[in-house]
Amino acid sequence: MADELHHTEPFVTNPDQVVEQALNDYGTYVNDAMARLYRFMGLTTLEWAANGAIISDIYGQEYIDCGSYGVMFHGHSHPQVVAAVREQLDRMAMHGRTLPHKWVAALGKCLAEITPGDLQYSFFCNSGAEANEGALKLARAFTKKPGVIATKGAFHGKTFGALSASGRELYREPFYPLLPGFIHVPFGDWRAVEAAVTPEVGTVIVEPIQGEGGVIVPPDDYLPGLRDVCDRHGLVLIFDEVQTGMGRTGKYFACNHWDVTPDILTTAKALGGGVMPIGAITAKPPIFELFNDNPYIHSSTFGGNPLACVAGIAAIKALKDEGLVEQAAEKGAYILNRLRQLRQEYPQVLRDVRGKGLLIGLEMGKEAHSGVMIAELAAQHVIVIHSLNNPSVIRLSPPAVITYEQIDIVLDAVSKGVAQAAAVDAEL
Ligand SMILES: Cc1ncc(COP(=O)(O)O)c(C=O)c1O
Repeated sequence: MADELHHTEPFVTNPDQVVEQALNDYGTYVNDAMARLYRFMGLTTLEWAANGAIISDIYGQEYIDCGSYGVMFHGHSHPQVVAAVREQLDRMAMHGRTLPHKWVAALGKCLAEITPGDLQYSFFCNSGAEANEGALKLARAFTKKPGVIATKGAFHGKTFGALSASGRELYREPFYPLLPGFIHVPFGDWRAVEAAVTPEVGTVIVEPIQGEGGVIVPPDDYLPGLRDVCDRHGLVLIFDEVQTGMGRTGKYFACNHWDVTPDILTTAKALGGGVMPIGAITAKPPIFELFNDNPYIHSSTFGGNPLACVAGIAAIKALKDEGLVEQAAEKGAYILNRLRQLRQEYPQVLRDVRGKGLLIGLEMGKEAHSGVMIAELAAQHVIVIHSLNNPSVIRLSPPAVITYEQIDIVLDAVSKGVAQAAAVDAEL
């Protein structure tokens, strides 16, 4: 498989030494366990350059990137996003924060245009967790109620508020006590949300499609049901579209699949076009009132900086100009169809195949299968990841610019990986 990918010359004259030094320093100064894991998985290399769906390592070997935690919807080094950032870098990289700058206002307008319904005002921050943190504060300030209904298996980030809303004990337990007032109900069942409403509850936060929970697409009545429950009980509905937003699922936002508008929508990941980190909280005017009344009540030094904002503007323009959202829908359907055929051959290993657009989950029969698959795919120069809250589900989240030729390479590699996992099973 890897033969079909290009090899160039190594990027440095002594790659082995550079890799060894970097992994040693990683182990000594960054994270020892992570450095050992890289070695254990045979990842004794360094990523060095990237373009489109391809990451090149220091040896000049190419990998097709279906991972990158869903950030790379536009592909690596998207030319228009890079150009916009480069131009701004030469002009003025960071804001002085006393005078206004054009780009934050322009990006706010772009987001209001592409987000559904009457979502209008945006607060900009630097990551998905920060966006959810701010969204939870905004909702609390509006409702004056501390209770939040979240879902089992949810992933909203790892800061205290976002973690309190997240649903996997492994990440929560060492940090107890988390914020009080969070209730976790099963995902996909709006009646479970309604049953959990008490006079203290003011907010509901969900991912329209759970990403790290294992790419769980809810039943069609879920989002409309949540909207209705929130309207009837006066609750603020937050959709965390950090992973699903910006075209990933074949619509601008996953909630567009069900035509439901939340009161607050959070974005990050692909909002920076794969070039800059940026997050955003976009809210309806009445909900945003506190931030509007007192703009210093919630702030971030780097949030809304010019580099991140011009990246966001260029990223949104690219979605439109290049039809990336439509491409995600088409390419996703092609991949899902092929994977469903593969599933019929290996139902024990490939228990389920699901997703929307280019957010695709492969549920493996056993957690051990995931490890075999990820290693086998890496050996074939295809990068995938497992879901953080559901490790038996492997996620494919390739960029929308991936070519059909590259998709076929990925699918062949997945077939081999599944066959490999089946063979390991047969030996046991
Ligand atoms: C749905 C969702 N929300 C929030 C986050 C957290 O984003 P970040 O890692 O940028 O803080 C993630 C990250 O994977 C996510 O998938």
